[in-house]
Amino acid sequence: MGSLESKSIFVTGAASGIGKAAALAMVREGAAVTLADIQDADGKALAEHVQKEGGRALYVHCDVTQSDQVEAAVAAAVDRFGRLDAAFNNAGLEGKIAPTAECEEENWDKILAVNLKGVWLCMRAEIRQYLAQKSGGAIVSTASVAGMVAERGFPAYAAAKGGVIQLSRTAAVEYASHNIRINVICPGLVDTPMAARTLRRMSIGAMVPDPARPHWLESGIDGLMRWEPAGKLFSRLMQPLGRPGRPEEIAAAAIWLCSDASSFVTGQALVVDGGMTAA
Ligand SMILES: NC(=O)c1ccc[n+]([C@@H]2O[C@H](COP(=O)([O-])OP(=O)(O)OC[C@H]3O[C@@H](n4cnc5c(N)ncnc54)[C@H](O)[C@@H]3O)[C@@H](O)[C@H]2O)c1
Repeated sequence: MGSLESKSIFVTGAASGIGKAAALAMVREGAAVTLADIQDADGKALAEHVQKEGGRALYVHCDVTQSDQVEAAVAAAVDRFGRLDAAFNNAGLEGKIAPTAECEEENWDKILAVNLKGVWLCMRAEIRQYLAQKSGGAIVSTASVAGMVAERGFPAYAAAKGGVIQLSRTAAVEYASHNIRINVICPGLVDTPMAARTLRRMSIGAMVPDPARPHWLESGIDGLMRWEPAGKLFSRLMQPLGRPGRPEEIAAAAIWLCSDASSFVTGQALVVDGGMTAA
């Protein structure tokens, strides 16, 4: 028996990176998973892959900034799998890199819409479903270490992720009496397309391009340390375990928080950062 046997779980940002790894791992733990994203081709392909392997998965197009799409996606999960037991609100965007005084309003609005409002819209639909089912349930959202410590160049991202932590604490206390557990995961640097995009942008114009090694995640930490700007970045983001996290390592935390193994845990921000914030 897997730790999520017969649970129905809703995952946003499921087409890539951490969300994809979490969805696959949840299926291996016995869950039926509703995959929500805006990258339809990748999301559908993932659902088909799971189904071919004998797992249960449904893909739904869902822009988390749109309340009607979020409500329809949660309703589709319930329609297909009969109920909702857990949710992983993980969709996110990094946005443009600029310090606070240079952050564009458009970037601010977009990042807050996806990374904070999107989590709230999902959480609201999920809580309403749990209350209607009279069942309790788990909600896990992906924040970031950027929601806990300063993240130079990412004011909107940091504000949104800090907001996710406080939103989750508030809702956890509000709905604890209904046995709805609401927690957050704060990853450090994790090897995903988002991390690669971010690091590449931060290095633009400053490093010597090497067509054979387009970014440091493909050349490893040794490659990174040869690129001065990216090396500086890594020093700032230094994770004592000495490497970026793997998406599967964040997925493992999400699975624990979605499962009954964490039945007495609510209102918490679980940091999974290779020791970054301890150093
Ligand atoms: N990778 C890291 O180093 C890192 C560190 C800390 C936190 N995080 C957070 O982890 C989460 C997952 O990021 P990732 O690294 O896997 O990135 P990713 O880019 O690989 O995946 C993010 C997914 O979110 C989806 N998405 C974006 N906007 C959406 C929207 N409006 N509606 C629905 N889906 C949308 C994308 O299509 C994509 O599939 C994000 O919330 C991110 O902020 C990542």
